[in-house]
Amino acid sequence: MKNILTLLLAFVGLAATNSVFAQEAESSSYDKLMNMDGNQLTLLVIMGVILGIIILLLILIIYLMSFISAVFKKENPAMALEPSWWESFKEKFITGDVEDEAVEKKEMSDHSYDGITELDNFMPPWLQYVFLITAVFGIGYFINYTVLGYGKTGVEEYEEELRVEAVLAEERKANTATGIDETTVVFDETANSLASGKAIFEGNCAACHATDGGGGVGPNLTDDYWLHGNTISDIFSVIKYGVVSKGMIPWQDQLSPEEIQNVSSYIVTLNGTSPVNPKDPQGELVGGSTGDDLPAKTDSTAVIAASN
Ligand code: HEC
Repeated sequence: MKNILTLLLAFVGLAATNSVFAQEAESSSYDKLMNMDGNQLTLLVIMGVILGIIILLLILIIYLMSFISAVFKKENPAMALEPSWWESFKEKFITGDVEDEAVEKKEMSDHSYDGITELDNFMPPWLQYVFLITAVFGIGYFINYTVLGYGKTGVEEYEEELRVEAVLAEERKANTATGIDETTVVFDETANSLASGKAIFEGNCAACHATDGGGGVGPNLTDDYWLHGNTISDIFSVIKYGVVSKGMIPWQDQLSPEEIQNVSSYIVTLNGTSPVNPKDPQGELVGGSTGDDLPAKTDSTAVIAASN
């Protein structure tokens, strides 16, 4: 029975140390668990159950063995006097042979206080082993980090993490930039974006819409009349998908989503400017191009101009 108890204790100890070491990696293994799909979870549960059954069987085997040895000892009393394997193991590696030496020999008379004398016991083997293992580990640790320089020091690990994070941030930025489409496009007023939009417009669009947006083959982009709507997302869609039958090319293969957003924003700023050679209005009067997707308010001056 004592054997079984020790075994159980050993299992509990093992589980406890495991969880202590696991704490460090806790967040990531927790994340992994959360990201598992149903099949993986089922597999994990099945593996857990099998492990539990194996442990139960082991405990049962040990119990049966101790039972059998008890029966043997009863039948053969000489055997009962022999120390069990566990007792000899304990004596050799854990506690040492405590009972053997005479107590008087170990008494330290100079360490006697109020009649209580100290015994000069030897260091128990388990403690000697712990000492040896820590010493060996320490030497290995020192050689690994200081002499060979294989392992990463705390500072190096920190710098590595910063590097990885910088790369990830760069990736995230790139993803959000390419994630722009007609539903997420915004009117980007920053000087950089408008400058890039202007350059794209003059390089690709001016041939049909004129450098100042006054129009030519394509419609006038500075007035309040729009064929396909005046919101930033309308403008973005027309540029992205084009109106092939009417001669407006789709630009999604030539320009990145961010570039289309920039040129769309630039077109929004063109509204209300006075081109040198404005083309006649085409499409419906819906007001100036807007940076937001709210229904555009009709510009009153444009209504007056239209009615004239
Ligand atoms: C080959 C000539 C041509 C080029 C180049 C061209 N467009 Fe157009 N674009 C047109 C035509 C034609 C239309 C009118 C389509 C229609 O009638 O539906 C138009 C329509 C548009 C509209 C919609 C206007 C409205 O009233 O709704 C926008 C916005 C626009 N173009 C932006 C651009 C931008 C930005 C570029 C450059 C990246 C560009 N276009 C390049 C010919 C062109």
